[in-house]
Amino acid sequence: MAKKKSVRAESSRNGYAGDTVPESSITSVMVEDRVFPPESGFSAEARVKSIKEYRRLAKRAAADPESFWSGIAEELTWFRPWKNVLKWKPPAARWFTGGRTNMSYNCLDRHLDGWRRTKAAIIWEGEPGEVRTLTYGQLHHEVSKFANVLRSLGVKKGETVAIYMGMVPEAAIAMLACARIGAMHNVIFGGFSAEALRERINDSNAKALITQDGAFRRGTEVLLKDAADRALEGTPTIASTVVLRRTGSDVTMAAGRDHWWHELMASASAVCPAEPLDSEHPLYVLYTSGSTGKPKGIYHTLGGNMVWSYYTSRMVFDLRDEDIYWCTADIGWVTGHAYVVYGPLLNGATTLMYEGAPNWPEPDRFWDIIERHRVSIFYTAPTAIRSFMRWGESHPRRHDLTSLRLLGSVGEPINPEAWMWYRNVIGGDRCPIVDTWWQTETGGIMIAPLPGATPTKPGSATLPLPGIDADVVRRDGTSCKPNEGGYLVVKSPWPSMLRTIYGDDERFRKTYWSNYRGWYFTGDGARRDADGYFWIIGRVDDVVNVAGHRLGTAEIESALVSHRQVSEAAVVARPDEIKGNALIAFVTLKAEFTPSPELKEELRDHVGREIGHIAKPEEIRFADALPKTRSGKIMRRLLREIAVSGEIHGDMTTLEDLSSLEKLRDGEEE
Ligand code: PRX
Repeated sequence: MAKKKSVRAESSRNGYAGDTVPESSITSVMVEDRVFPPESGFSAEARVKSIKEYRRLAKRAAADPESFWSGIAEELTWFRPWKNVLKWKPPAARWFTGGRTNMSYNCLDRHLDGWRRTKAAIIWEGEPGEVRTLTYGQLHHEVSKFANVLRSLGVKKGETVAIYMGMVPEAAIAMLACARIGAMHNVIFGGFSAEALRERINDSNAKALITQDGAFRRGTEVLLKDAADRALEGTPTIASTVVLRRTGSDVTMAAGRDHWWHELMASASAVCPAEPLDSEHPLYVLYTSGSTGKPKGIYHTLGGNMVWSYYTSRMVFDLRDEDIYWCTADIGWVTGHAYVVYGPLLNGATTLMYEGAPNWPEPDRFWDIIERHRVSIFYTAPTAIRSFMRWGESHPRRHDLTSLRLLGSVGEPINPEAWMWYRNVIGGDRCPIVDTWWQTETGGIMIAPLPGATPTKPGSATLPLPGIDADVVRRDGTSCKPNEGGYLVVKSPWPSMLRTIYGDDERFRKTYWSNYRGWYFTGDGARRDADGYFWIIGRVDDVVNVAGHRLGTAEIESALVSHRQVSEAAVVARPDEIKGNALIAFVTLKAEFTPSPELKEELRDHVGREIGHIAKPEEIRFADALPKTRSGKIMRRLLREIAVSGEIHGDMTTLEDLSSLEKLRDGEEE
């Protein structure tokens, strides 16, 4: 094992407005020089066996991207071949134009002719402990039936279906059924509140909602149908809902609108040929946070997304027929789309889904699952890894984890300590770790090691995948020198890039394409080291990663000011050992109200109701006034400094009212 450990990462961020890159530079002071070459045994069996081979592939892809992409797309089934691989008029991209295909066909029907018909497609474990296995043949049967159910409810090609479910196989069935008939799915994370659900349903004009009575989580029930009922009080476009019975608890069923899943399925035909769809036909919209209060509907289309999920799963996880692959992400996030459902099924792999919490009934639940199901590939988030570290080694040590052959990480920068722990304690010092950088917008993994080829460094996502033209640039667009912090951009189009923000082309253009002409701006700060390895520093906009959830501070602020006692709010992040970041809200009240500890709790609950429990601030601090520039902008940089260190070091020359700051710093705000 390589040596050395002296690590500290830091970034300076400022109030980025979304359409201009920040003024201040990004400093990265991370020092990490351990290198782990791939194990020779792993490389010998891998799809890409050496860094030389990676470089050859990357060179070939850069020299002739179109033939590179079409070579991959040809491995999947198309009902009609494409005319052009790419039509690119920045920022509008169209991939595999004129081609016709179907995601559900490629995930299911394609595997039915041979032995995979009886292979496990999904192994599901419920939190209470029951296990269900669906073979490719069975999954195809269920998906075909549910596709007919959707049609019987009047859902048409091109229309939107909202899915608000927990981690149950039916969530995957619903997604695949939408894809089969060409309906666009909009999966809304089950942790979102009724208000958040309503906003996302309305923004996407969803015609139907698929939900369930409740979901099991940490021994209790999350009442999904109850929240859905409240959301549906203000969703004019929803004509019908389908409700899966999961927990068996009482729910109210609205006559004419609400239908039980099992009743509709009982009479549905299992014959439903996959609809041949244009390559640019909508596949899904998925809402994510940006730097304004309104969530962004990230819009992905069929052909490019399918090719990318297929390719990246093969390359990065080196997926094999023998693998039992487990990605712990929820289906409500993009990782759940690309790497719980589509990527593994496109590759004919076995994907494991688990319904509940990692520490239920005991903190060893994940290791127990790995041992019992002989999981070989495990893909999770740094925040989870840090929790496992806190719970202690004794939990994984009690279990046989020798079935594992590859580990993955996603969602936020992984600190080298967590990386090393993951490698030693979970991976038995033998499994490669793939730290995968990507975003909801990119549709799939962009920067990651190829496990048989790329030497890894703890904390680095390493190198772009072949075909991805990523760089770290200065504000003026020139490339940064090695180890100079800058902005992460992608300079050429790739198949699964977002096509737009649903219903808001202008915001799409402004957010991603206005900073650098023709290049995609990620919103992340990064540096490349002397070997060209990428080290992601973090967001440079007002987006924060809390326990792997991407949250816009503006969204939380607008939730806070919707409370009748609140006048103004500013939300900033403070580094947190487990969650990566914790949210601190500075709140001023309307004159007639007084701060109290009860009000703090009430405000936290209010955010929980408006957005969901994931968005509740860790801490609420009341203030008489918030520090503002003379032009009235809240100086978040100062608040961030107060939240992090209690001190202010930066330039305060533009501050309007110094006394507000003094009070915040002295903790006199209450
Ligand atoms: O800041 C980056 C961080 O997560 C952001 C994307 O969040 P989201 O769209 O919710 O997608 C999460 C799953 C892909 C990025 O802009 N991020 C994601 N993966 C990594 C990461 N930061 C560092 N290293 C990663 N591997």
